[in-house]
Amino acid sequence: MPGVLALRHNKAMALEFAARISRIPIYPAAESYGREDLVLLASNESPYPPLPAVIEAIQAAAPALNRYPDPTNSALRRRLAERHEVPPERIAIGNGSCDILLAAGEALLEEGAELIYAWPSFSVYPHLAAASGARAVTVPLDDQERHDLPAMAREITVATRLILICNPNNPTSTALPLTAIEEFLEQVPDHVCVILDEAYCEFNLLDDASASVALLAKHSNLVLLRTFSKAYSLCGARVGYALCGSERLVAALNQVRQPFFCNLLAQSAASAALEHGDEIEQRVAMTVAERISMGERLAALGLQVSDSQANFCWVSSDLLREHEREVLERLRERGFIVRAGSALGSPGHLRISYGTSEQDERFLVALADVLEQLPAGERLAR
Ligand SMILES: Cc1ncc(COP(=O)(O)O)c(C=O)c1O
Repeated sequence: MPGVLALRHNKAMALEFAARISRIPIYPAAESYGREDLVLLASNESPYPPLPAVIEAIQAAAPALNRYPDPTNSALRRRLAERHEVPPERIAIGNGSCDILLAAGEALLEEGAELIYAWPSFSVYPHLAAASGARAVTVPLDDQERHDLPAMAREITVATRLILICNPNNPTSTALPLTAIEEFLEQVPDHVCVILDEAYCEFNLLDDASASVALLAKHSNLVLLRTFSKAYSLCGARVGYALCGSERLVAALNQVRQPFFCNLLAQSAASAALEHGDEIEQRVAMTVAERISMGERLAALGLQVSDSQANFCWVSSDLLREHEREVLERLRERGFIVRAGSALGSPGHLRISYGTSEQDERFLVALADVLEQLPAGERLAR
């Protein structure tokens, strides 16, 4: 009955969407899902599987899936409270840390309000202003591709409600020392919320991952955003958390979300992972070793390599600017996916997550080969 089908089609076309739907950018996810035949170096995931004890905890929790999970995430918050010495009332849990970011946008922003963040930075940040109708004020990174905090401080107005600082920054991998962030916080009025997105803090050697927690005692407007997705090898479980300077913010974040935002398996996995800090630290150390070795070897291929404090690196060259598509395609033919700078607003760059040392060895061989075969490859290969 073609007539009915056509009618259905027309009806779909006639839907009227909220104005924000035309503003909200589509998240540029890498095309890596389900491609286990490839080495996935595009999404800053951990190359290591979840710890065996975490998998056991997930299996042990599974029989209770016919019941809704604990809506208050009490066991996980208690463990995090012990770990960070922050009261459980000031800890928010999320379906990934992205969930908390978006909830913060919903709780704090509206038309007439302003949000400040650096650019380039995490691709989800533009979503917050687009969804709420607030004005996004983006501040370019400095000449070392780090947040320019003095310039960000100059953008604060009476309309500012939220400031996002990504440290270490995705996609540039660079970090600022905590002292610079502390100095910045002194200049921010108390009613302006500052989210310090620390998704990669476990890999940052500039400061201890626990050091920023002390700032919460002085700044009730501060939020430290953390995730189990990176160092803890659990991005598939979707669980993140925020250590907040104020209880009121935790309540507001929960008000704007659905009741059971963190599922049972995610809560169990994250709680179990916290019991195995030593093993997580060993994995982080392996990634940092890869970072050091990859940094030297990528530079030897003629690429500029940013000073990484994360589990990925950010490289650039004129040749990449001219031949980005070919480089990506040829790497893919050789079995590797990395992230294109142009997808992140920075043509001429590649973002490469560190893999296992065996994967990274093979990747370097493939990359050298790909670069050498480019028209001007001889300029790069030394
Ligand atoms: C800077 C930053 N923040 C937050 C996230 C979100 O992580 P998740 O939602 O998996 O916790 C990511 C993910 O890549 C990120 O790079």
